[in-house]
Amino acid sequence: MRSGRTAVLGGSGFIGRYVVKRLAARGDVIAVGCRNAEQAKFLKPLGDVGQIVPLNIAIGNEELLPAFLAGNDTLVNCAGILQEKGSQTFDLVHHSGPARLARFAREAGIERFVHFSAIGADSRSSSAYARTKAAGEQAVRDAFPTVTILRPSVVFGSEDQFFNRFAAIAVMKCLEDSASAGRLYELGGPKIYTFRELLDLLLSEIRRKRRFLDVPFGLAAAQARLMSILPNPPLTPDQVELLKRDNVVSSGAMTLASLGIAPTVAEVILPAYLDRFRRGGWYER
Ligand SMILES: NC(=O)c1ccc[n+]([C@@H]2O[C@H](COP(=O)([O-])OP(=O)(O)OC[C@H]3O[C@@H](n4cnc5c(N)ncnc54)[C@H](OP(=O)(O)O)[C@@H]3O)[C@@H](O)[C@H]2O)c1
Repeated sequence: MRSGRTAVLGGSGFIGRYVVKRLAARGDVIAVGCRNAEQAKFLKPLGDVGQIVPLNIAIGNEELLPAFLAGNDTLVNCAGILQEKGSQTFDLVHHSGPARLARFAREAGIERFVHFSAIGADSRSSSAYARTKAAGEQAVRDAFPTVTILRPSVVFGSEDQFFNRFAAIAVMKCLEDSASAGRLYELGGPKIYTFRELLDLLLSEIRRKRRFLDVPFGLAAAQARLMSILPNPPLTPDQVELLKRDNVVSSGAMTLASLGIAPTVAEVILPAYLDRFRRGGWYER
């Protein structure tokens, strides 16, 4: 695999930072675009001096995007949002922004483009997140037919270096393998959990007991509407819509296995990273 010049939009995020780390390890010079380059400076020690350059590039900035892409041969778009806030709309970040990015990428002579969408992307979904992800997929394909689209399932954990690492490994495999051009992959683990099973797993790992109360979707939507007055609501009405559909790899989809990646079950990893919350655990004191 040859090293080159890569632009990573959203390279400071939960997944993007591991993409940047891997690209740096293969020797690429990386331009990292995000809205707050100052906060992305933590990426610099992942490479040699000058190898990783964080830049203030918003996906909506028509003037700066061409300059951001110029001279690069590869583009990875990891920009995404879970909630809308001010000018950060789903349509901008997931659809019209990526559409423009893909067009500029083509004009800049970018050879390989990997774009992050999400499992559940669907033009008929009741969730705006899912609808705009689907519209974004179509738009980037129209402008850049050889784009590789990755749809992760929920990638959870606080900076766990594990679940997000799989997404980064998938990006690198796609860049290595030209057969992935023009394809879409759904990235999920080897085991499907219900939401309750995940919570049970969490509680058993941290050795705590809690009772669960089932909340019907109508009530959850009402709660989410109330919470939307908070600056960072823990649940939004759109997320309630998203939860109505299972977040699992569809049958017949190309997967991590198609890329030669064998994911590990959550149970193997959770004990290590939940240790800090465990009753009687190493960090309890
Ligand atoms: N994590 C998951 O569970 C999951 C599941 C399914 C799909 N995905 C998708 O995978 C991709 C990466 O997810 P993630 O978890 O790494 O997200 P994340 O941690 O929220 O990171 C998002 C990145 O996008 C940048 N960004 C946000 N708005 C931007 C804008 N307007 N212009 C330019 N950059 C912008 C952020 O930096 P600034 O805030 O500084 O701009 C950050 O670097 C996203 O497309 C996401 O939708 C993630």
